[in-house]
Amino acid sequence: MSHTLSTLAYLVSSVLFILALKGLSHPSTSRRGNLMGMIGMAIAILATLATPGMRAGGIGLIIAGLAIGGGIGAVIANRIQMTSLPQLVAAFHSLVGLAAVFVAAAALYAPQSFGIGTPGNIHGQSLVEMSLGLAIGAITFSGSVIAFAKLDGRMSGAPILFKGQHLLNAALGVLLLVLIGIFVATGGPTGLFWLIAILSFALGFLLIIPIGGADMPVVVSMLNSYSGWAAAGIGFTIGNLLLIVTGALVGASGAILSYIMCKGMNRSILNVLLGGFGAEAGGAAAAGGPAQPARPVKSGSPEDAAYIMKNAGKVIIVPGYGMAVAQAQQVVREMADLLKKEGATVEYAIHPVAGRMPGHMNVLLAEANVPYDDVHELEEINPEFAEADVAYVIGANDVTNPAAKTDKTSPIYGMPILDVDRAKTVFFVKRGMSSGYAGVENELFFRDNTMMLFGDAKKVTQQIVQALQK
Ligand code: TAP
Repeated sequence: MSHTLSTLAYLVSSVLFILALKGLSHPSTSRRGNLMGMIGMAIAILATLATPGMRAGGIGLIIAGLAIGGGIGAVIANRIQMTSLPQLVAAFHSLVGLAAVFVAAAALYAPQSFGIGTPGNIHGQSLVEMSLGLAIGAITFSGSVIAFAKLDGRMSGAPILFKGQHLLNAALGVLLLVLIGIFVATGGPTGLFWLIAILSFALGFLLIIPIGGADMPVVVSMLNSYSGWAAAGIGFTIGNLLLIVTGALVGASGAILSYIMCKGMNRSILNVLLGGFGAEAGGAAAAGGPAQPARPVKSGSPEDAAYIMKNAGKVIIVPGYGMAVAQAQQVVREMADLLKKEGATVEYAIHPVAGRMPGHMNVLLAEANVPYDDVHELEEINPEFAEADVAYVIGANDVTNPAAKTDKTSPIYGMPILDVDRAKTVFFVKRGMSSGYAGVENELFFRDNTMMLFGDAKKVTQQIVQALQK
């Protein structure tokens, strides 16, 4: 394949990746978006294999790499629970970061293979791109490993704080920039290359340890963005157009997603970028949280709930992490269908950080074929709770907690919430009184208009369905 043809193939791939992102922006087009991305990647791989000058040994190595990496990826993708996706994404980002470090090293040791000079005599511009890609890649690697460990419960989700932390991070950042300057000015000595790598690994580690568990979603999305920029930097070094475009797409879309999530949680994006995010949150607890001291709550049976909902004119369903754990989405839709038959209006309220990954609830509801028109975002649905007879909160907790509005010391303070308490009756379907991800008690459990429906989300909803069918 000539250079012109492979450039053309890369261009087609780039367009397909852009269309993929566009498709992924809505559940109704997301399958098509995924397909576009897969076709784009297939074209990119074929064009790379057909690159002029590619030796048979090189092709063999690429195919072996694809088979091993693809095989492991396929096994993991098949086994992974939906609820563990955030840590899987963090783990995958770490690999992108590490790959950027390895490619930068390859370009340093064998620059002639990439047409960027000879060992000890690499073009200045390539040294800049290489060292930036190296630093961002290394930060992404160690930062993602810590994010993975925190999300997977392999280390405490609580922020790790010490005196002078921000100063140390700032000093390390400045030192890295100075070293990159010296690296470029002195023609790219290998010792300095590895010193930059080690310091960047340390910075990635230091940036993520102060971040509390509740703020991790934004961090994962931010690291996603970093991994894209690392890839783009390396794309410049090795002169690969597609890597530049793809890296920029991942970098920009990750940054936009982080911004949307920051808005959803009312956090400042600057704090996330600088890694001081969790520190001011005042110590978010790890998942689960302690059991709360006994206070009287009103609890009811699924039959009670069915009776109240049968007579309701408007029901708003609020899904959360517990619905995902119980895999209750299908039976929730069955319940909604029955209520609609009874003449009720049924809508779904989605909080931007409900569940454990962006779009988590949208994916589950789409899987259960819930009509897209019934699904509403926070700003859209909040005014409607005042007109609702019932808010059916299933496995959601933090995203409804009014402490986010009233308690300045709360780790979720400032996060906009779904105003479920404005509904005439609020049902909370959960197994017990334990807190949500942020580890804080929800005052709503004790309100007069709340009825707790204790039990597994799927079982309770199934019993309501049965009662509605009687
Ligand atoms: P949470 O506040 O975590 O509450 C989930 C509730 O589900 C728990 O209180 C739990 O109570 C209940 N539950 C668990 N398994 C259940 C089951 N089988 N049946 C019934 N209930 C069950 O969830 P949320 O309201 O969706 O809020 C999301 C939280 O996760 C936020 O703090 C957010 O910042 C954080 N987070 C979000 C993301 C993204 S991007 N969405 C990623 C990571 C973290 P019981 O134990 O009493 O049943």
